[in-house]
Amino acid sequence: MKNRILITSGPTVEPIDPVRFLSNRSSGKTGFYIAEEAKKRNLGEIIFITGPTRYIPNDIKIVEIESALEMKEQVLKYYNRSDIVIMAAAVSDFSSAKIYPEKIKKTRENFTLKLVKNPDILLELGKNKKKQILVGFAAETENMFENAQNKFKTKNLDLLVLNEISDKNKAFDVDDNQVYFISGSGIKKNEKMNKSEIASILWDEIENLINNKKIT
Ligand code: CTP
Repeated sequence: MKNRILITSGPTVEPIDPVRFLSNRSSGKTGFYIAEEAKKRNLGEIIFITGPTRYIPNDIKIVEIESALEMKEQVLKYYNRSDIVIMAAAVSDFSSAKIYPEKIKKTRENFTLKLVKNPDILLELGKNKKKQILVGFAAETENMFENAQNKFKTKNLDLLVLNEISDKNKAFDVDDNQVYFISGSGIKKNEKMNKSEIASILWDEIENLINNKKIT
């Protein structure tokens, strides 16, 4: 199977002033292992668009970005030519309304930072989907199945990887994780496992989806 594969990974970093930023706890491990597994299976040409992380695969095209807007620009550049798109990046939902050109001084007792919503890249990809197999991620702390199934439909996905965020499953910046797969055929629960094993069962699932699509 020779495909054009687009994988996003890591956190995004939203600047506030020359020394500060907003970000999240994503380590980039999940995206890294997804790319490594695709390489191992010889699934095709991979483009890896990533926020700042230590986990960068070798021997594939790497596009490094910082903010959600930069990620959007790069993802849209490669989207139309892609067959499989896996949005594993933890894109910041908000960024600072203003990027302060000088370092913010602690001269005042209170300081309110105004945030504005970032574009939802995955939503836009879903709206413009043609041939692509589109895989999204969700991190939920409450009403997780309901929220995840809504996300699956609204974002026009083929597969959603649901991370439960709780005391027993931190999901972010850890080695083991427990995920559910949500697809047109319902919810599949997986055991807690290493993120490299998650990458492997995820590719099994995607390859199944592709084979079923070919038959129907
Ligand atoms: N995502 C995206 N653009 C954003 C935010 C998220 O493309 N601005 C993508 C992520 O790469 C991931 C999925 O959407 O595949 C994650 O969604 P999640 O953050 O769980 O939920 P949100 O869609 O942000 O919704 P909510 O705020 O309800 O959690």
